Formats: sequence, C-alpha cells, structure tokens
Amino acid sequence: MRVLILGIDGYIGWALALRLLAKGHEVAGIDNLSTRRFSEEVGSDSAFPLPSPKDRVNAVKKKLDASLDFIVGDAKDKKLLEDTISKFKPDVVVHFAEQRSAPFSMRDYNHAWYTLENNLKSTLSLLYAVSEIDPSIHILKMGTMGEYGTPNFDIPESAFVRAVINGKEDIIPTPKWGGSYYHWSKIFDTYLIMFKGMLSSLTVTDIMQGPVYGTKTEEIIDEELRTRFDFDETWGTVINRYCVEALLGLPITPYGKGKQTRGFISLEDSVEALRLLIENPPKQGEYRVVNQFAEIFNVYELAQIVKNAAVELGLKTEIRSVENPRIEKEEHYYNPEIKILPSLGFRPRKDVRGEVKIMIKDLIPYKERLERFKHVIMPKTRWR
Ligand SMILES: NC(=O)c1ccc[n+]([C@@H]2O[C@H](COP(=O)([O-])OP(=O)(O)OC[C@H]3O[C@@H](n4cnc5c(N)ncnc54)[C@H](O)[C@@H]3O)[C@@H](O)[C@H]2O)c1
Repeated sequence: MRVLILGIDGYIGWALALRLLAKGHEVAGIDNLSTRRFSEEVGSDSAFPLPSPKDRVNAVKKKLDASLDFIVGDAKDKKLLEDTISKFKPDVVVHFAEQRSAPFSMRDYNHAWYTLENNLKSTLSLLYAVSEIDPSIHILKMGTMGEYGTPNFDIPESAFVRAVINGKEDIIPTPKWGGSYYHWSKIFDTYLIMFKGMLSSLTVTDIMQGPVYGTKTEEIIDEELRTRFDFDETWGTVINRYCVEALLGLPITPYGKGKQTRGFISLEDSVEALRLLIENPPKQGEYRVVNQFAEIFNVYELAQIVKNAAVELGLKTEIRSVENPRIEKEEHYYNPEIKILPSLGFRPRKDVRGEVKIMIKDLIPYKERLERFKHVIMPKTRWR
C-alpha cells in the first residue's frame, strides 16, 4: 500500500514508517519538525540524538534498502497536502501531525491557542484535501483515550451511544471530557471528522490511543534508526519519564494519590496495531472508532514496576509522590471497551513489566547525556 504519514519525524510516526517500509509498503511523510523545536523551548531534547531528516532518509536506504520521501513542511498547509496527495496518490493518510503535549498546551494562553489552531487546522486541511482530491482515501487519525476522560460508566468503543434524556431516547456522540487544551483539541478534531466525514462520505479510522511507552521497535536496530524519546515533564509520557528518573537516581514521581488509571501500550504494539488498521480499512464511507491500548494500570502501580526493574538492574531509586500539578480525578472508575483490534488479530507482544527493564538498559549508554536535562523532569506546569 501507499501510505502518507503526517508527523513522520515523531516518536510514533518514525517507528511506524520503519515498520511499514520493512513490510514492503511505500511511504512518504510530512513534518514541520515542531516537536524538535518545542522540546528545545522547554530546555530538553530527545534522550537519543536525532538524525536530521536527510540522514534519516539515508539510513532507511542503507539499512532497509527502501526509499522514503520526507517532506519538511506544515500539515496545516492545505495546498501542500493537495500537492503531495495528488503526486503520491496514497491509499491511506495517517495523521499524527499535532501538538501532542498536555502540559505544553496548559502553559499559557499562547500555548493553548497554538495547540487548538495547529491541531484543528491540520485536521480540517486534511479532511478538505482528501474530500476534494479523492474521498476514497482512508484517513487514519490519531486521537487519544484521554478524549473520554474518566467517566463513571464503561467507555464504549463507538462514535455514538444511546441516551435517554427527559424520557426520550436518541443517539448522541459518545460523551467526552478533556483534561487539558490538548485533549480538547482532540475532541474538537473528532467532531470535525464526524461532520465532514458525513458530508463527504469519507472513510476514517479515529484511534483513541492510551499513553505509549518504549525505546524501540523491531526495526530500530541501531542509533541511525532511533526514534525520538521524550522524558521531561512537558513531553515525556509517564512510563518513559519514570524510567529516566530511575536511571538518573532521581525519585520516581507519581502525581498526587497516584490512582489515575489509564490503558497503556508499548511502541512496538502501537505500530503493529496501526499496521493492522492500515491493512484492514473500514468500509468505504465508514467512520470507525478504535480504542487502542494493551494493559490498564494506575500511575502508582507503574512507579512500583519501574522501581522494581531499576533495583533488579542495580540502580538505587525511591518513589516520592509529588503534589499533582494537574486538575484531574486521582481515584476513579475506569473500564474501557476494546474489541476491534482483537477482532483483527491484534495480540500485544509486550508488557510493561518486561519492557521497562529493556528500556532502562537501552537508556544506560545515554546516562551522561541525560544528566544535562535533570532540571526539566520535575513537574512545573500547573493547570491552575
Ligand atoms: N505518545 C503517546 O503516548 C500518544 C498517546 C496517544 C495519542 N498520541 C498521538 O499520536 C500522535 C503522534 O504522537 P507522538 O508521540 O509521535 O508525538 P510527536 O510529537 O513525537 O510526533 C508528532 C509529530 O508531528 C509533527 N507536527 C506537529 N504539528 C505539525 C504540523 N502542523 N505540520 C507538520 N508536522 C507537525 C511534530 O514535529 C512531530 O514530529 C499525536 O497526534 C499524539 O497526539 C500519542
């Protein structure tokens, strides 16, 4: 298949490009390199040094014997999307090209607005470009499990639910509640996709994915093929951040009571799930919602798992709960449904307990580099 990835330079985008190329698909990508810039803005960097786009293309040629078109450009630019889609003629466009940090979106008005504008505009540009050039192209859009919030009911894997309001039944969009401007941008994306998708009979998979962890996938066999790995308070997702804290001898820091519960997935399983969804598109004109995670944990349990792995590897660390900078429920019901990926044959190959040991070992050679960023790990960005 021919796959265009918006956000190809990112943590998941690069790993997915490698997986698809290794499986014989043709891949092109667009990225404006904004995560590289914003990570610098908060005084951080990827744990692994990142090759330039040109070096990434060369590494793919050398290591995977494949060619890759990597365009440095902005996914908000509808004309760029139109030109690229007309020329490359993808079967599927994967949309990752969004500002994806909740704390970054909560820094101040400018960061909140940047997040909303970047994410909604890239999504709307893509919806229009596809509907005007070839509405049969499958759009694979990455949302987040965070769109659902933490409701006191089972989270369905569907766009709509039945609801009885004032004694009358109707179908309504599945209730959502964002915990940051980033999460609200994903919710608004979903509404745009549902509306424009309905008007133009678009074929869409809207993925609700839980936080991703991991340093590598099967294709990441050396430094030249590495994907980025964020660990600071703004860009690092929880397990990745904990592993670096443990490695640097810092306390592992769950926020507040630590009972915040989510569905997690390894990078390896994430790209494999994405490959399955690309190779098994929904029916033409269908809007498919997919919940994507592998294991459910609360953030205190994860701290214990990382601590045990670190101790086994001879590292000295402790767990120290810190005041929660976020406004969120610290104890809550959580029961999300997951049936579409298993129906396509998805079986997670990694689990947190095994993978965190691999991650810490993988990070050990970069310890000196990571020491330089110790000061950006503790939470600073407050929701209020
Ligand atoms: N990492 C996770 O745990 C996780 C969990 C759930 C959902 N997601 C979603 O998955 C997607 C990929 O996440 P990631 O972790 O790889 O993030 P990332 O920041 O590493 O990758 C996103 C990429 O998109 C690029 N980008 C952003 N805005 C752009 C624009 N306007 N034009 C062109 N490129 C642009 C960035 O430069 C970056 O390379 C995001 O949409 C994110 O919200 C991530």
